[in-house]
Amino acid sequence: MGKAKTGFKVAFVGSECYPFVKTGGLGDVMYALPRALIREGCSVRVILPLYNCIPQKYKDQMKYVGSFMMDQTMEGRTFYVGIMEIEMEGVIYDFIDNREFFDWGNPYTGLWEDIPKYCYFSKAALAILNYMEWYPDVIHCHDWQAALVPLYLRTKFWNCPLKDSKSMLTIHNLRFQGICGIQHLKYWSGLPDGLFDYPVFKQNEDEANMFKGGLAYADAITTVSATYAQEIQTPEFGEHLDAHLRYHSVRMKGIVNGIDTEIWDSSTDKLLAAPYDVTDVLEKKWVNKEALREQLGLSRENGGKMVFGLVSRLTDQKGLDLVDAIFPQIMDGNTQVIVLGTGDPRYENAFRYYEDKYKGDVCAYISYNEALAHRIYAGADAFLVPSLFEPCGLTQLIAMRYGTVPVVRETGGLKDTVLPYDAEKNEGNGFTFDRYTPELLLKAVNEAKTLFFTDRPRWDAMVRRNMEKDVSWEQSAKQYLDFYKELKA
Ligand code: ADP
Ligand code: GLC
Repeated sequence: MGKAKTGFKVAFVGSECYPFVKTGGLGDVMYALPRALIREGCSVRVILPLYNCIPQKYKDQMKYVGSFMMDQTMEGRTFYVGIMEIEMEGVIYDFIDNREFFDWGNPYTGLWEDIPKYCYFSKAALAILNYMEWYPDVIHCHDWQAALVPLYLRTKFWNCPLKDSKSMLTIHNLRFQGICGIQHLKYWSGLPDGLFDYPVFKQNEDEANMFKGGLAYADAITTVSATYAQEIQTPEFGEHLDAHLRYHSVRMKGIVNGIDTEIWDSSTDKLLAAPYDVTDVLEKKWVNKEALREQLGLSRENGGKMVFGLVSRLTDQKGLDLVDAIFPQIMDGNTQVIVLGTGDPRYENAFRYYEDKYKGDVCAYISYNEALAHRIYAGADAFLVPSLFEPCGLTQLIAMRYGTVPVVRETGGLKDTVLPYDAEKNEGNGFTFDRYTPELLLKAVNEAKTLFFTDRPRWDAMVRRNMEKDVSWEQSAKQYLDFYKELKA
């Protein structure tokens, strides 16, 4: 499989990767993009922490590569670094073993412990590349947890063969930056004092910011959609780093995420009651919808009800206060809602309340459950993603691939991937709204309902259009590879 090797070597460094450990879309990207790059002829290694929470079946498959002691902290304390490895379909996964840092957490604990953990991880990622004598063309780092890699590369590793590697830092979510007291970061990173000034780490008189430092030192910056790349340069979305990002924007590009179309393939998905493709989606979606209703205890009396799905971390980012505000108006007797997610108790409780209030028509499944997520993507008619901000968003892509119509807010990657329905031209992928207000979400939901109930041929045409839309990684992997090559030119 794949093209002839280009000889291009890329190391991915990040804090999560499906199927070992995943809390959100970062885990999906760390899995899918390396596989897509392999298909473009690259060699890819993915470097991850060996968390205790990784399922035993994967730990059992890992083989020991080597170990050494590494100095870390301002005092030069030494810590064990073990390397455990798995190869899966051409991608090599190297796990950094250190029980002091990775034996607890799920995988994250709290910033106070996470800062030392990811300082150690970022330095160890480079140290293991050195140890294995595997010198990548590009070291592709993800989010704040890997943001120190570019800084270690240009300081502690300046006089080893790794110095020829270029670094790329991808912003998946600017809300999380790794901010702490300056002394805490100075101590744990062991990085030179000169970096703790305003152009690099310094955030304010007392605090240092790991993401800010990484963005200043990375050879290239990317984020996960073109719209988010623009948005984060404004005060509204910039999370206090907008000026910093404007300054560094010449090195920044937005490249939209895809999804892994082998995992997300409704025609081979073993988790579904009835797998389907674009030719039989209409009958089979019905079978999946009935099976889903039965599994979740939803009423099947009036089988024609429209089902809205929502699969999400339950946080402020996801626009759930808008859903909360209009919930009673969504429930018109012809609608059912299924929510799958965990997070902020405020939202967990709100959805539990609605489940009780609209018994048989609402399911609040407060949990993380991959199998159920697949069944919701397949069994729902429409899918809600009304986010306050959304760097890319994968759930709307999965929904479309499964023939489910997204209702989204026009922000970040949602804006770039969901073309609004245009009744005149009979085009588009879903229903969208711009300003962050409950009224506009309700209007979009009602537009979706109107089309579903009054013009099924057009609705069905949109379902098929969505299934045929290219949401794979292919085009975006090519763009990453071009950007890697630009860096090395
Ligand atoms: P984010 O990374 O901001 O959480 P994304 O849309 O990029 O949002 O990715 C979310 C990923 O996590 C998707 O693969 C989605 O299916 C999955 N997911 C989110 N919540 C759950 C859940 N409760 N159970 C199963 N999968 C979930
Ligand atoms: C982040 C963002 C999400 C994006 C994902 C993968 O978690 O919140 O929008 O899809 O990363 O890049």
